[in-house]
Amino acid sequence: MNIETLIISANGTTTKQQAAQQFAEDIVQGLSANPKRLDSKYFYDTTGDGLFQDIMNCPEYYLTNCELEIFSGQTDALANLMMADNDEPFDLIELGAGDAMKSSYLLKYLINKGVDFTYLPIDISSHVIGLLDDELSKNIPGLKFVGLNGEYFQMLKKAAAISGRRKVVLFLGSNIGNMAVEQAESFCRELRNHLSPGDMALIGFDLKKNPKTILDAYNDKAGITRNFNLNLLTRINRELDADFVTAQFEHYPVYDPESGACKSYLISQADQQVHLRSLNRTVNFQQNEYIFMEISQKFTLQQTKDIAINTGFIPANYMFDAKNWFTDAIWVAK
Ligand code: AVI
Repeated sequence: MNIETLIISANGTTTKQQAAQQFAEDIVQGLSANPKRLDSKYFYDTTGDGLFQDIMNCPEYYLTNCELEIFSGQTDALANLMMADNDEPFDLIELGAGDAMKSSYLLKYLINKGVDFTYLPIDISSHVIGLLDDELSKNIPGLKFVGLNGEYFQMLKKAAAISGRRKVVLFLGSNIGNMAVEQAESFCRELRNHLSPGDMALIGFDLKKNPKTILDAYNDKAGITRNFNLNLLTRINRELDADFVTAQFEHYPVYDPESGACKSYLISQADQQVHLRSLNRTVNFQQNEYIFMEISQKFTLQQTKDIAINTGFIPANYMFDAKNWFTDAIWVAK
């Protein structure tokens, strides 16, 4: 940690206990529902984080490379758009920053240009924020860093309380696709409610394309995405003392070119019972019954513009990779 650094956290212990309780409640609710479902936000325990890194490096998963191409190849254009002909200092906030691999291009460019800005990554994992702090203070000397450890909207409120400077919010990687379209709209509306007119959002959307290309990205040959899904069952075994036998569930991804929804399911291979021993619950599965695991929504450009307009933004600019497979949309709060 250097002088330019500050990490702001919601109260650590309470948050951890609350998170464990919420996990238990959500899992029980999802497995008691008909049809059964689990929330993909729970994929990301330590093993899940590693598997997601492997997914991003696997040949079929094109999303990361497309967005990286935009950030590394069009850094100047991106930076100019977000500065909006305006020399005033601003806050660059990143939702779910992860390792900030893509945004680092932007951070380095802005520092080299002598632009006055503060980088505020928001992440639910204190581990991620700590690592980012270490990495960025080493690699980008002079970067003003305020790490915000907590929920997105709770931390956006903190960011607004820290400074009244113009805000530019990054939400990259097609994370918005992990919400159903109506949910994505409410998310953008809530985001808008945390911003002021003239603030910006830069959102990464994965676009509709050849359906086979999309399905392959969620059905890689090496089976990493399969393991990524099954790992949530292993996490439930560990955290709720359950007895899922992962070999009894099959990964089943589908893509519907009409709606743009890529969904993944785990299919029970037999009639079976799973016990969540720490909660004293039993879950019954019939053979071929599914658990809905994740949506990765793909968009048309027009859909993204409609979302912007419906949620109080002006869809000002769009950046694309060479294949036009992915877009980073730059929206201005009305
Ligand atoms: C994090 N998110 C945008 C990824 C996606 O493409 O939906 C998660 C993922 N799931 C399977 N592969 C990657």
